[in-house]
Amino acid sequence: MSGQPYPIAVIPGDGIGPEVVEAELLVLAASGVDFTFSEHPAGDAELARSGAALPAATLAAAKAAQAVVFGAAGATAKDVILRLRAELATNVNLRPAKAYAGAPCLRPETDLIVVRENSEGLYVGREELVEPGMATATRLITDRASFAIARYALQYAADNGYNKVTAVHKVNVLQITDQVFLDACRRAAAEFPQLSYEEALVDSVAMRMVLRPSDFQVMVTTNLFGDILSDLAAGLIGGLGLCPSANLGPQHALFEPVHGSAPDIAGQGRANPAAAILCGAMLLRHLGHRDEAARVEAALTACLAAGQTTPDLGGRLSTMDMARAVTQRIEARAGAPRSGPGGGAKHPKA
Ligand code: NAI
Ligand code: MG
Repeated sequence: MSGQPYPIAVIPGDGIGPEVVEAELLVLAASGVDFTFSEHPAGDAELARSGAALPAATLAAAKAAQAVVFGAAGATAKDVILRLRAELATNVNLRPAKAYAGAPCLRPETDLIVVRENSEGLYVGREELVEPGMATATRLITDRASFAIARYALQYAADNGYNKVTAVHKVNVLQITDQVFLDACRRAAAEFPQLSYEEALVDSVAMRMVLRPSDFQVMVTTNLFGDILSDLAAGLIGGLGLCPSANLGPQHALFEPVHGSAPDIAGQGRANPAAAILCGAMLLRHLGHRDEAARVEAALTACLAAGQTTPDLGGRLSTMDMARAVTQRIEARAGAPRSGPGGGAKHPKA
């Protein structure tokens, strides 16, 4: 072991957020990579306590850290997580959806990742009530952001053993904005001749994902389409409890389960920590620790296959018991070399 531990800002948030984050940190601590975790408040409870859902000190800590681990916020999610994504300038939203043996699901062959543009599109917040009963929204698409997301998706495919990238659009209707998007995608694809690149209309993609999810590996798309298709993908693999996500930018990285604060099960130790644990694996991979990430995923996969799960997947374990089952499997694989920032690993900034 050598080098300094990675400084990670932890924002557990509300409801089951703190429960799944505790599980995630336990697994990260067992991963063989050194971290220092600092915890910072945000969310509904923090709003009630201090008057700010996202205190300035929490935002500053998120910006100063190597990466941010986030749980979930409740009603303040928009003020917390949307603001964090924007303040950290995370233009890439990665949403993998992989089916796991032992987790009941619709399409067990699903193994895809949605690479969603996270900074523009219909989510720029430019809505206008033109007159009572008539409103407009601006869909901002730039060549710069489209090229960046397309290039990221293609590089991700090349780096992670995928051979096909699908650009998802609706250019037959959105003839100007999606032409800008597709032109950028084609330029980026020309840099990756070894990959198969296809373009597909978003509506037909939605149908094909349900009928033949194996048609897709890496999907790259604009903000709203990516939001919807990634939830569709979550439905294919058995729900939100299994879906992690990463928000990545030139300077910052934030990892969050796709699910919310689940007030209906909060405080009962019933929350499935799988999504949060998979966020931990994404964090490890982002920091260049691929082997450690693969070990975490393998341990979680083995637990799911063995029925060592929370009640939502038919198991009988509590959140932390499931996390301990994962760490036991990680530790059972002897000889895991420890490594940190000085340990020779590359630190690609996405
Ligand atoms: P939700 O994801 O919190 O819950 C939906 C359903 O899935 C619930 O029945 C819940 O019990 C279940 N569920 C979610 N995660 C689970 C897990 N890890 N294990 C087992 N079951 C799980 O979405 P909902 O109910 O629409 O929103 C609840 C609150 O969360 C709202 O206040 C909303 O604003 C907030 N929210 C926050 C998000 C964030 O912080 N990124 C994202 C989505 C919602
Ligand atoms: Mg969504």
